Amino acid sequence: MATYAKAPAKIILLGEHFCVYGAPALSMAINFYAKVKVENLEKNELHISSKNFGVSEVYRKDFKEGKKVLNPIRVAVESTLKHGGLTCKGLKVEVDSEIPVGVGLGSSAAISVSTIAATAKHVGLNLSKEDIRSLAFNSERLIHFNPSGVDQTTSTYGGILLYRIGEPIRRVKPQPQPVFIVGNTGIRRVTGRFVKKVGKLREEKTKLVEELAKKAESLVFEGVKALEEGNLNLFGRLMNLNHELLCRIGVSHEKLNLFVDAARKAGALGAKLTGGGGGGCMIALAKPENWVGVVEAIRGVGGEAYKVEIDWDGVQSWVNPSRLGG
Ligand code: MEV
Repeated sequence: MATYAKAPAKIILLGEHFCVYGAPALSMAINFYAKVKVENLEKNELHISSKNFGVSEVYRKDFKEGKKVLNPIRVAVESTLKHGGLTCKGLKVEVDSEIPVGVGLGSSAAISVSTIAATAKHVGLNLSKEDIRSLAFNSERLIHFNPSGVDQTTSTYGGILLYRIGEPIRRVKPQPQPVFIVGNTGIRRVTGRFVKKVGKLREEKTKLVEELAKKAESLVFEGVKALEEGNLNLFGRLMNLNHELLCRIGVSHEKLNLFVDAARKAGALGAKLTGGGGGGCMIALAKPENWVGVVEAIRGVGGEAYKVEIDWDGVQSWVNPSRLGG
């Protein structure tokens, strides 16, 4: 018997980086998924493989040995078993993710969330979504320096979320549905490096960064209202302002700025970098009637671009081989 799970990627609509220091962020789960399959093994071992990284590892006695890139997955399995007071009796964990890695779409969080959900279901542990996202912190801390938790929260719950450290999440229901385009520079970077960079700036220029964080906070609250009232023109303007704030804390990149300009010139209502910055992805809010033009504009300046849909469900797990691949 095999058990499966899938968890979505995310984009940050407003408020990244500042949310690490207590400001709110507005995030959205998107229809790119990390899929995980868990099966029993005869031997008392843990086998982990990742199709994307093209690596696998067999863990025998000591879980701590092994390839660094697989550590977050190993920690996700280990934390789940520990949470249930169980020890590993032989498990095979296969990760297959369609989320581009290292470009700010929350690939690592989705892999951890999906691994936790599949492992828990496989060993008969009934975890709540709250348990899943909280366990995923153990893996996220290995990858991102000081993560706010927005990535794994969005991947776990799905939908559009108003997120703030230490507060209950609030689901946001946009009216009408916004059309978002993701533009990928293809420049892979480590989010933690940019979180550290902002942390250093905050130490050196505390007043400035706090002022910008206050502005980001107002943008997020205005943004929630704009989405719920269907004021997409305003939401687009807020995205543009947010991009300026992110430029001021030094996390943009010339390619991101190029894509953002191209999207705006092609008629996007707003555009900004998304996630950690320094490369990775940007997002644009397109008018439903001309999203193709925005996609083409981003492609025209050298980006990969795609229209993304909202994932409303978050992580899902099941035991049913006929749904292999979800
Ligand atoms: C990463 O998707 C978002 C950041 O704000 C980091 C975090 O919140 O953990 C850059």
